Amino acid sequence: MHPITRFSFPTTIIYGPGALGELPGALQELSVRKPLVVTDAGFAGTGTYQMFIEVLDNAAIPYAQYAGVQPNPQDKDVKEAAYAYKESTCDCIIGIGGGSPMDTAKAVAVLSAMGGSIGDYDIQEGGGSRITSELPPVIAIPTTAGTGSEVGKCAVITSSSQGRKFMVCHPGMLPKRAILDPQLTVSLPAHLTAATGMDALTHNIESLTSPEFHPMCDGIAVKGIELAVQNLERAVQDPGDIDARGFMMLASMMGAVAFQKDLGACHSLSHALSAVCALQHGLANAVCLVPVMQFNLDAASRQYQIVAACFGVRTQDMSEKEAAMAAIERIKELNRSIGIPASLKELGVRKDQFDEIVEKAYRDPCHATNPKPCTKEDLKLILQNAWEG
Ligand SMILES: [Fe+2]
Repeated sequence: MHPITRFSFPTTIIYGPGALGELPGALQELSVRKPLVVTDAGFAGTGTYQMFIEVLDNAAIPYAQYAGVQPNPQDKDVKEAAYAYKESTCDCIIGIGGGSPMDTAKAVAVLSAMGGSIGDYDIQEGGGSRITSELPPVIAIPTTAGTGSEVGKCAVITSSSQGRKFMVCHPGMLPKRAILDPQLTVSLPAHLTAATGMDALTHNIESLTSPEFHPMCDGIAVKGIELAVQNLERAVQDPGDIDARGFMMLASMMGAVAFQKDLGACHSLSHALSAVCALQHGLANAVCLVPVMQFNLDAASRQYQIVAACFGVRTQDMSEKEAAMAAIERIKELNRSIGIPASLKELGVRKDQFDEIVEKAYRDPCHATNPKPCTKEDLKLILQNAWEG
């Protein structure tokens, strides 16, 4: 019998080339007057950021800025940005950039409403229930196509004292508006287009295989997989292909909508690899995805058969397992075609780091919804396979 379930897709998404121009209207709809803009120093120095600032200036919208977000945002980034929010008497937050600024923006919403330190709201310590006040609205504007943080209710933050990542999640953190303008992604370098795109694909695949009951998210995940596998190579090889860029933004957003169902072992390993070896999140997922799928083969062959069909494989003439194996081969080929290194060894991960990676991956909550339960030994085996390639 099906469980009693709530299905919710609350973020209003404004999509299309030129959608950035809808920002003043979005602020007006939310009845806010002064945003804190949260971004990172690299993006703040780009022409794309200037284009964004012009949209605010041309509409005579006052704003404050915090451009100190680090690649894996730390608790102290959130603290500094929340201080800027308060000092400048802002009433909403715009997160613009990749996942890090958007996650920081959502965490700033929590801290500015609740006070304390962002570590107080770690979901593993029961922090979600401590978020009791209404949070200021967040508008998310992604400039990469990968994390889908613009439609997620969580922020991944790194503890500067413990060096570990933790998550803060609450429905109030969901951005009220997400502005998806593919023109903002055309200057993204090929290696980042590839890595972030594989993150989006991994979200869709791990959501599809999560055992949580959510048929709506399953449907979204399947379409997200199809868009990603049909457009990622195009977006990497022709950065100005605005249709491919747009479809990747949609695949990214859909992956994050779908992972309301939660993720799997690939993300547990990837979170640990970022914390221990400072690997880029999408890159770590891209290299771990194939060994994770091999580990899950028997438990998830029905879903992997669908992945194969998204690649255009004629699965009718195959057994479910053959089709699943074909999906894994296609993922390997996709990685090769977009320049993803074949192994963690090539990325500089050392064997003497394995125990720490496995320990952190095991503590990470994502593998709780892996289609096949993972012991520490299982995670070590997957890690070994990803290391060898
Ligand atoms: Fe991810």
